[in-house]
Amino acid sequence: MMIDIKNEDDQEKMRIAGKLASQVLDMISNYVAPGITTGELDRICHDYIVNEQNAIPANLNYKGFPATICTSVNHVVCHGIPGNKKLKHGDIINIDVTVIKNEFHGDTSRMYQVGKPTTQGERISKITYESLWHGIKAVKPGNHLGDIGYAIQNHAEKHGYAIVKEYCGHGIGKIYHDHPQILHYGTPGHGIEIKEGMTFTIEPMVNAGGASVRVLPDQWTVVTRDHSLSAQWEHTILVTKSGYEVLTLAPSENTY
Ligand code: MF3
Ligand code: CO
Ligand code: CO
Repeated sequence: MMIDIKNEDDQEKMRIAGKLASQVLDMISNYVAPGITTGELDRICHDYIVNEQNAIPANLNYKGFPATICTSVNHVVCHGIPGNKKLKHGDIINIDVTVIKNEFHGDTSRMYQVGKPTTQGERISKITYESLWHGIKAVKPGNHLGDIGYAIQNHAEKHGYAIVKEYCGHGIGKIYHDHPQILHYGTPGHGIEIKEGMTFTIEPMVNAGGASVRVLPDQWTVVTRDHSLSAQWEHTILVTKSGYEVLTLAPSENTY
């Protein structure tokens, strides 16, 4: 299997795309509140990407997906379709966005608490975020993809949560979902060796209850089978000589 290695020029374009994707999530955070619909959030993101960033919303029409962002609320694991659903106090929502700029993709998602947060909502969001960062810290030339998966799985399971196995991170560049697959579980030292210049996403989905999921009849929305809460965070990562660069880092994350 061929894994694309980005040269300096590609890396600079990936930085730009990553930053734009992250800025969409910064911007939309000001609108996430009780009463707004996921469809309204989608329209705001769409217009921002197209009119302010002069970029392309990669999700729109991707394999027939009808929107710019995925909005996954509470027991929705991923790929929630924006619509008439109004957010309410205590909901948790993942917003996942991908932009294309100069042909390159930047892909990132975050969790948001709607209104007054619940203890359970805060907890699953925090542990999932920490799991993502445990995975990121395993990114380094010479390490293996299994090191990333193991670090993520270990942290989530230690806190009584379950990793969703059906969906994974992915290589990214001019191709949205490229090789290799980045599993969010694994065995240290196993899998493909990590090399400088690779770019991929890490995007763990973590359930409060069982790991099983199902896809709704709309053929997109993935939910937990037991309707337990689910959370996800995603970053696009560049492998550097000594470790990693997070291309979709938020301003508030610089000191993590
Ligand atoms: N952004 C998602 C990912 O992290 C994929 C969304 S595909 C869509 O890979 F079609 F649902 F938008
Ligand atoms: Co992704
Ligand atoms: Co994404």
